[in-house]
Amino acid sequence: MKITDNEFLLLRDYIEENCGICLNKDKAYLLENRLVHFIEEFKCKDFSEFYYILKTSNRKDLKDKILDAMTTNETLWFRDAHPYAILKEKILPSFAKEIKAGTRDKIKIWSAASSTGQEPYSLAITVRDFCMGQDVIKKDMVKIVATDISDSSLAKAKAGKYDAVAMNRGITPEQLNKFFTKEGMTHTINQDIRDMVNFQKFNLQDNPIALEPHFDLVFMRYVAIYFSDEFKKGLYSRLARVLTPKGFLVIGAVETLRGVSEDFDMLSHAGGLYYQCKR
Ligand SMILES: C[S@@+](CC[C@H](N)C(=O)[O-])C[C@H]1O[C@@H](n2cnc3c(N)ncnc32)[C@H](O)[C@@H]1O
Repeated sequence: MKITDNEFLLLRDYIEENCGICLNKDKAYLLENRLVHFIEEFKCKDFSEFYYILKTSNRKDLKDKILDAMTTNETLWFRDAHPYAILKEKILPSFAKEIKAGTRDKIKIWSAASSTGQEPYSLAITVRDFCMGQDVIKKDMVKIVATDISDSSLAKAKAGKYDAVAMNRGITPEQLNKFFTKEGMTHTINQDIRDMVNFQKFNLQDNPIALEPHFDLVFMRYVAIYFSDEFKKGLYSRLARVLTPKGFLVIGAVETLRGVSEDFDMLSHAGGLYYQCKR
């Protein structure tokens, strides 16, 4: 089933309006490939008829399935390495100083596009290892909230079960033995790490205050690349408001705040960049 130019425009606008994912005309094939199974499922004669059902049926489950189908959930463990060095060597020590000084008693971290869980579990492992090496920050002072719009990714993340392909992407043999239990071909994240992460569904179009009044650190990596500059401006402004004063933001290595936010100072460590709220 081929998508026409007009059908592409209608569905493209629907997707952007509902989750910010912005598709150029050269992505018509992507939209067609990812949504064509709905045409069969709903026995539609074409994408126009499917769009009509979508707009008139008011079915939230259908909207959720379409947005899920349109997300790209590519992820890996300890992606790019430097964010985790920054967390271990800069951000956690700075929180530890505040705890010691009595100006802080907890740490709230948000993995804002957590996909199938590799990012929040990498955060949890880093926090857990840091906590083992000192006695200022205790593991139960740290709350990690992980969110995504994709129901299928969230279900996989919550299950914490990974196949050999996923496990070959960024986990060392030592971490594999220490933090996972193997059953057949499946590796399951150990319960103590699983318990450090609270997964929730959240659309980055919405105000994160609905999740938590404040976060001290936000990892929002490799998701803004799918959004328009307009959407990014609103998103980074919402982030700046949900971060505590001088809170930290870590974005993807290919992403930039240039032209879309002036709320953050750029910092550098371990060959990578991270950001701190100006206020
Ligand atoms: C490429 S993955 C990045 C995963 C992880 N942050 C990393 O860097 O490895 C992008 C994730 O963003 C999610 N996403 C896309 N649009 C979203 C939105 N509007 N709200 C919340 N999550 C969204 C997708 O479902 C997908 O899991």
